[in-house]
Amino acid sequence: SDCGLPPDVPNAQPALEGRTSFPEDTVITYKCEESFVKIPGEKDSVICLKGSQWSDIEEFCNRSCEVPTRLNSASLKQPYITQNYFPVGTVVEYECRPGYRREPSLSPKLTCLQNLKWSTAVEFCKKKSCPNPGEIRNGQIDVPGGILFGATISFSCNTGYKLFGSTSSFCLISGSSVQWSDPLPECREIYCPAPPQIDNGIIQGERDHYGYRQSVTYACNKGFTMIGEHSIYCTVNNDEGEWSGPPPECR
Ligand SMILES: *[C@@H]1O[C@H](CO)[C@@H](O)[C@H](O)[C@H]1NC(C)=O
Repeated sequence: SDCGLPPDVPNAQPALEGRTSFPEDTVITYKCEESFVKIPGEKDSVICLKGSQWSDIEEFCNRSCEVPTRLNSASLKQPYITQNYFPVGTVVEYECRPGYRREPSLSPKLTCLQNLKWSTAVEFCKKKSCPNPGEIRNGQIDVPGGILFGATISFSCNTGYKLFGSTSSFCLISGSSVQWSDPLPECREIYCPAPPQIDNGIIQGERDHYGYRQSVTYACNKGFTMIGEHSIYCTVNNDEGEWSGPPPECR
């Protein structure tokens, strides 16, 4: 006994796998045609029964949107996350991913439209903002792309100051909020080494520390003549203080 070709089912094709005979107990499963999806819970196969009769089958494919687009800012809520059948008119709801917050004026829902496209996703989840980074004394904060989740800011010190700490910080997830990855660095003044003493002369008004651009002025004892510059000043090279040149001589 043979059942013959399995019955037609609207919008579905039987997976015959090259079979030409269908003896008793043969099971044939159908696949929905493109843009149709199996309705959950419906039967999608037939079996050849005694008496050369296929078991009953009803229409089980319906037009369906595809699985909704993945969004960077939001994920599908339960139970939609595990579904693949979204007939026209289905509404799915998103929730914001970590690092994002709801924009209360916009609906976090999409609808499967007649053309089997999802309605356009508006920006219903926006990036959270890290706190204002503040200021660095004697330094700068570079904020090239704002301070929202994912942003990087970088730090530098004014000339004459050396940076202690991080040179950049990222706005990242911290608990249920967003926070900077690194604290602000400190900019400490760079000092030159003590200025060189000279024979037969003095440093006028000598100080404890000489920072960037500060100068020392030399004077010769009575009866001596100065050869060279009266003053040298503190410069900075690779975060180290160094004098602009050699001190003068008193001859
Ligand atoms: C197919 O989807 C439409 C909505 O697009 C729905 O009204 C109809 O009931 C569905 N058919 C079945 C058999 O579930």
